[in-house]
Amino acid sequence: MKNRQIHLAFPSTSQNLSISQDETVLQVLIRHEIPIKHACTNGVCGVCLTPLLSGEVDYGQQQPRGLNQKELAQGYFLPCIARCQSDITIAEPKVKVR
Ligand code: FES
Repeated sequence: MKNRQIHLAFPSTSQNLSISQDETVLQVLIRHEIPIKHACTNGVCGVCLTPLLSGEVDYGQQQPRGLNQKELAQGYFLPCIARCQSDITIAEPKVKVR
């Protein structure tokens, strides 16, 4: 299977991480010690909310219940249950403010 790339467009760094099709974005960020808050890891709490700047992710059988319509419209996604459908570019993960 072909690996995808996660491009980190952060003010502090710009680097690419390789992700396989059976990994979530959160697993890769943690493995590379990229700071990201997480709690439930099943798409419910919304703590891992991160801006998706380009590319497509897929939640498979899981529902992104931690993402409301406003956040979705603003381009956020939930890395804990997201797998890459294409190469993606993300901005720095945000701490949830609701
Ligand atoms: S860690 Fe809870 S929604 Fe991602």
